[in-house]
Amino acid sequence: MIFDIENTRHDFPILKKKVNNKKLVYLDSAASAQKPLSVINSMKRFQEEEYSNVHRGIHYLSNLATDQYELSRKKVKDFINANSENEIIFTMGATDAINLVAQSLSHDFFTKEDEIILTVMEHHSNIVPWHFLREKCGVNIKWINCDDNGNIKVKDFIKAISNKTKLISITQMSNVLGSEIPLKEIISIAHDKNIRVLVDGCQGIAHLNTDVQDLDCDYYVFSGHKLYGPTGVGVLYGKYDLLETMHPWRGGGEMINEVFKDKVTYSKPPSKFEAGTPNIVQAVGLGAAIDYFNEKKKQGLFHYEEKIAKYFHNEMSKLPRVKVYGKENLKSPMVSFTVDGSHPHDIATIVDKEGVAIRAGQHCTQPLLDFFNLSSTARASIGMYTNKNDIDIFINSLDKAISFFD
Ligand SMILES: Cc1ncc(COP(=O)(O)O)c(C=O)c1O
Repeated sequence: MIFDIENTRHDFPILKKKVNNKKLVYLDSAASAQKPLSVINSMKRFQEEEYSNVHRGIHYLSNLATDQYELSRKKVKDFINANSENEIIFTMGATDAINLVAQSLSHDFFTKEDEIILTVMEHHSNIVPWHFLREKCGVNIKWINCDDNGNIKVKDFIKAISNKTKLISITQMSNVLGSEIPLKEIISIAHDKNIRVLVDGCQGIAHLNTDVQDLDCDYYVFSGHKLYGPTGVGVLYGKYDLLETMHPWRGGGEMINEVFKDKVTYSKPPSKFEAGTPNIVQAVGLGAAIDYFNEKKKQGLFHYEEKIAKYFHNEMSKLPRVKVYGKENLKSPMVSFTVDGSHPHDIATIVDKEGVAIRAGQHCTQPLLDFFNLSSTARASIGMYTNKNDIDIFINSLDKAISFFD
């Protein structure tokens, strides 16, 4: 079956919306993707017919809800090819998942002699939790730069790794430049030195095939809302033997084995890391998003996106006074750019009048913007519903904005 863009667009009700009396052109999917009807309906149906708390009751609805919640865990496991459902922890999102790992490892894994390696391309979500660790345990953070086109070189990791390095935390795909990272090579080098690797899959999950066993990463995180699922749910994958040794970071119901007045024992992963009532409805929605995404992937989604991305980059290259960052990466689903003589916020405001939604600012990546000596960029990012017409409307509106600043 061939990927059918018009059918796909029909599945996203929000695309029918008019913005400023214009057709909505949504080019902000890297910030958050829109939701297909099947995801919206799955959560509605679940709440109308099957909702209850999970893992707690023996009554009919509680069992039904638990089955649905656990079915979503299985869908995530299959989707990223984890070894077992017990390696999948539901979190509130990627930020929450990285904080979980950092806080948990702060308990007894790191000492103040240790080093962590990050790249300048990381999202603040993959920086600030490690700063907490620096503040708490005194670990040293080492930084890897990218080159001018936004590529990360394996040799820079080899140089940065020392016998004090305990962890590398790295994005799968830059949320500004769309660059892909040579993860397998980096992970293999790290493991030779007994270094753990966490992969931030927030952007990669929606545009790349992800197989955590093939990558051999120790941890992998992503947010449901970037994968056409709901907000409020995300995933931490961790190798089971590592999860088993990690201290839980939040305490509450469900994550315990026994609670006494003077001591507590913890349950096994994943429940050890899921304290309290989880985001049940959102987890069900994420399961539906994975079903939908898998179907689109089978139909050739990635090939379609690559074609649109190339078209987009090519059209951008024709515009005067526009500088695209990472412009050699023609497959990148996001295009970050500046326009000589105008502020990215003004560009975003002008194109919004034409119904086009793009993002402007730091994109939560201040170290990367510092690297390029910038305070902000505009970013347009595609999703599975982006068609050529969207790109043409955006290019025309950007062209108008550029003339406005002439
Ligand atoms: C690469 C990357 N990492 C982490 C995050 C944080 O995701 P969330 O805010 O859903 O936790 C984002 C969100 O933009 C991202 O793009």
